[in-house]
Parts: sequence; structure tokens; C-alpha cells
Amino acid sequence: MIRRVKGTYDVLPKDNYLWDYLIKQTYGVLNKYQYKEIRTPIFEHSEAFHRDSELSDMVTKETYNFKDRANRDITLRPEGTAGVIRSYVENKLYVEGDLQKLFYFGPNFRYERPQKGRFRQFYQLGVEAIGLTNPYVDAEVIMLCYDIVKSLNLKNISININTIGDNESRINYEKALVDYLTPFYEELSNDSKERLSKNPLRILDSKADNDKEILKNAPLPKDYLSKEASNYFLEVLNILDKEEINYQVVDTLVRGLDYYEHTVFEIEVDSNNLGSHNVLAGGGRYQNLVSEFGGPDLGGVGFAFGVERLLLMLEDNKDDIKDLKEPLVYILPLEENGVAKALEVSKHLRDNGIPTDLSFIKKSFKALLRQGLRSNAKFLIFIGEDELANNKLTIKNTITEEQVTINEDELLSKLGEL
Ligand code: HAM
Repeated sequence: MIRRVKGTYDVLPKDNYLWDYLIKQTYGVLNKYQYKEIRTPIFEHSEAFHRDSELSDMVTKETYNFKDRANRDITLRPEGTAGVIRSYVENKLYVEGDLQKLFYFGPNFRYERPQKGRFRQFYQLGVEAIGLTNPYVDAEVIMLCYDIVKSLNLKNISININTIGDNESRINYEKALVDYLTPFYEELSNDSKERLSKNPLRILDSKADNDKEILKNAPLPKDYLSKEASNYFLEVLNILDKEEINYQVVDTLVRGLDYYEHTVFEIEVDSNNLGSHNVLAGGGRYQNLVSEFGGPDLGGVGFAFGVERLLLMLEDNKDDIKDLKEPLVYILPLEENGVAKALEVSKHLRDNGIPTDLSFIKKSFKALLRQGLRSNAKFLIFIGEDELANNKLTIKNTITEEQVTINEDELLSKLGEL
């Protein structure tokens, strides 16, 4: 037997209704905010992700890289932002208005250690608002992120927010952090040792107990903000206050990617379903990506949800979520020659827009009834010997249990009444 690749999963038909629900709810919110969907390829030239400025673990250690048959270096996307920016620049979307509000839904690939809520192929639902550097845009993006969570009725949610300042603030802070940590070098975890030279901000995220102890007295990004960066952040917070969005400022929050400047944020949920992977979405502002991809000097801000994490949260209230793709009618032939009639009636119903399924094999009444009820159809139609002889149909409403035998040509009107 060939098994699925480690870190991947199948979504079986019985579980798809949760995906459908998630898409319906979240796309509704995105439309209210007038974000437009963009679909970019799941692979790009490797340099779209492997940029000199991006030394995060995600890009340096976790990407799937390969050569195609013409010897091109290709990378399966580990996240959505880079591909969207590549497309924004390549298609000159900046000509079409001062702010492009884009969203995307699709799979990403990271070679991480699989755990609950962490996969090697996982879906993201993300947005990018590109073109303006304006605290109102940051605030609107955070409001959208929160509205998406609300649309799924998720509870125990918090918005964590911080600023890492502009490039100048970030460079000064990184220097101060390295100066502070260098005397502790031998005591740091191996990961943090490595990050000290490559990516010092990420050390703030360390889960190692001893690193946490050392970090207690470390300088924080807020101590190194330029005046402009500090004002920008205060404005974002003021706008959120005015809009009555609850958040908490987390001084140590930096998120995992190197492209962030100014605002960074995440949506955290307090739940046992996700264990340590309780961050549902992460995001922030980036000021250099568009120019790095060869476009004008424009900033952007966005976030991405991990879709599987949202789905794990939906498991809690899945009994309230209806499968919108269940048939309305299920047709059950009790005789061998009833199958042709069942297909004919199905065609009639489907031509009239009614989702209909049927059994292609005659079975006993009991077996057919079980099959029909398992489909969750509202109406079952039985075609037995009598019905065939007299052009009749027997309809059962599975909710009220009412059952009537009608003339075939009355079917549509009777379904409306029952
Ligand atoms: P990220 O923080 O790397 O940001 O990922 C965003 C979300 O994707 C995470 O909060 C998590 O829910 C989910 N996620 C990440 N890795 C996995 C995994 N291996 N398995 C399951 N879920 C995962 C980004 O990717 C940025 N592009 C977000 C962004 C958009 N920033 C600005 N614009």
C-alpha cells in the first residue's frame, strides 16, 4: 500500500462540510471589506523566497526546493506573501489604484516536524493590502482579521500586537540585543546560538527555559523605536481603541519572518485543541518587499490564517454546522427495473435545480431506507412495483415522517408542499 507523505492529510468527503462552511463565512467577510481574490502558482522561482534579506528558518531550513527538467531552481511556496508581491509587481497592479486589497486561499509547504496543527502541506487564508503606509490601513487589516475569527464563532481569542519599528529602529535594536546576549552565548540553546548571528530577533520567541530566563532582562524593540515609528504605532493603537477592538501589546512579539517592519500582530486562541500551536494567524507590515521584487517603493501589510488550525477550532461546534451539499432528494428503486425510472426522475429534479442522489441497485426496503437516511436527504422517493405500474411515486419527508403516494407529474409541486 502506498501511504500519504508524512505531514500531509486527506480531507475525506464526510469532513468537507467544515471546509465549505469556513470558506462561505470567511469569503463573506472578505467581500464586506472589498478584498479581491488573487491566485498565484504554488511554485515560484526559488529566488522569490530565497532572498538575501530573508534568513528566517522557514526559508533557510524548511522549503521544498528542486530543479525542474530544464534545470530551473524552483521552490514550493512556504507562504503566500512573496508570490503575491511578485505578481503585484509583475502585473503592475500599483497602476490600478493606490491600495490593492488582495486575498488568497491555498496550500503552502514547509518541511517542519509534523504535530497537531502543524503540517508539511497546510492551507493559508491570507490578505495583503499593498500600496500605502498608513496606520488606518494597518488598523483595518487587524479589524478584518478579527472579523474573520468572529465569523466562525471562535471563542477565547486574543489579538497580540507590537511594533518592531522602521528599518533604523530595527537595526539599532538588533545591535543592542546582540550586545546584551553575547556574554551569555555559552548558556544559550543551540537554536539561539545560531540565530544570534543570523536572525537575533527570533531569539525573543525561544521556548527554551534557560533562554527565557536570560531574556528577562534583555532590551525590547520598544526601547529602540525612532520617533516616527513610535508615533506610527501609537496611531494604530488609537484607531483600534476608537473602533473598540480589544488587543494586548506584547513587547516581545516579533513573528517569524524577516520582512516585517512597524506593526506585527497575531491571533491567539486559548484552547486545548491546538496544544502549543495556538496561534491562528500571524501578520504585519513590510516596507521593502515591493521594491525588492523590482517594483516601486511601496509598503504593504497583511496576515495569514492557518486554515487547519481554524478547522480544529471548528471541531468544537461542528454539530451546529450544516453540510450544505447534502442531497435534498434521494431516490430508492425497490425493483430491478425501477433504476431506469429513478435516473429519469433524478434528471427531472436536477433539471429543476434540486440536488438529487439515487441508488443504482435495487435492495430490500430496509437496506434502501438505511441508505437513504444516511444521505441526510430531506425527501426519500420510493419506486416499487405499484409505483412503476401506475406512474406513481412514494415520497417520505424524513423530518416529519409524513409519507404520500402521488402522480409522477405532481412531483415538483408536492415537494414544495411537504
Ligand atoms: P506565518 O506566521 O509564517 O506568516 O504563518 C501564518 C499562519 O500560518 C500561522 O499563524 C499558522 O496558523 C499557519 N501555519 C504556519 N506554518 C504552518 C504549518 N506548518 N502547519 C499548519 N499551519 C501553519 C506568514 O506566512 C506570512 N506570510 C503572513 C503574512 C501575510 N504577513 C504579512 N502578510
